[in-house]
Amino acid sequence: MSAVNEKKVAALEAVKYIKDGMTVGLGTGSTAFFMIEAIGEMVRNGLEIKAVATSYETEKLAKKLGINVITLAEAKRLDVTIDGADEVDGQFQLIKGGGGALLREKIVAHNSDFNIIIADSSKQVSRLGKFKLPIETIPFATQLIIKELEEMNLHPVQRMRGTDDYKTDENNDIVDVDIWNTDVKLTDLEHQLKNIPGIVETGLFLTSTDLVIIGKGAQAILEK
Ligand code: 5RP
Repeated sequence: MSAVNEKKVAALEAVKYIKDGMTVGLGTGSTAFFMIEAIGEMVRNGLEIKAVATSYETEKLAKKLGINVITLAEAKRLDVTIDGADEVDGQFQLIKGGGGALLREKIVAHNSDFNIIIADSSKQVSRLGKFKLPIETIPFATQLIIKELEEMNLHPVQRMRGTDDYKTDENNDIVDVDIWNTDVKLTDLEHQLKNIPGIVETGLFLTSTDLVIIGKGAQAILEK
């Protein structure tokens, strides 16, 4: 079965956790797309929920499908968030941010009681780092941060959109780094990166995930 179908299988399993009256965090990306579509259909069939979007793209889609999108401030706390990932390891540690929405995704996950990650089977890894780790930086500091990341041997590359700098929803930059060869523990690496002024957030999600749902062929595999 194709990755696209596996994404859909995982998404359809995840939406079973959504019940009437919940406030739901909506992730970003091609896997999250199937989850948002499914929730849209549930809403058309009478489900009553409020939702917080992790990107403009998600917000636009959710609103188009008739989902009641509110702000994080209005929500205060979320019951459940469903989001995708670029890599997930056996300890539920993730690399996220391939789609550039890592900052809002991490904020929403932090404010959510239960976080479900949905992915196709290609995202499961025994060790994080084949996928380049996205780091969100303040444009004022990006070039100097890149120098610092080079000194850390992380081979930083500023993300581009054509010939322009890629910009996040918050109008920040993304620098993708290679963590595969680092021998620094992930928790320490996260700490070191977050200690550099101008780094707003990293795509390392180390402790927020409660449930991983992997689409494997036609089956959804739940890992708790
Ligand atoms: C966006 C993300 C996405 O969840 C991640 O990139 C996975 O995307 P997809 O489901 O399209 O493979 O972190 O910032």
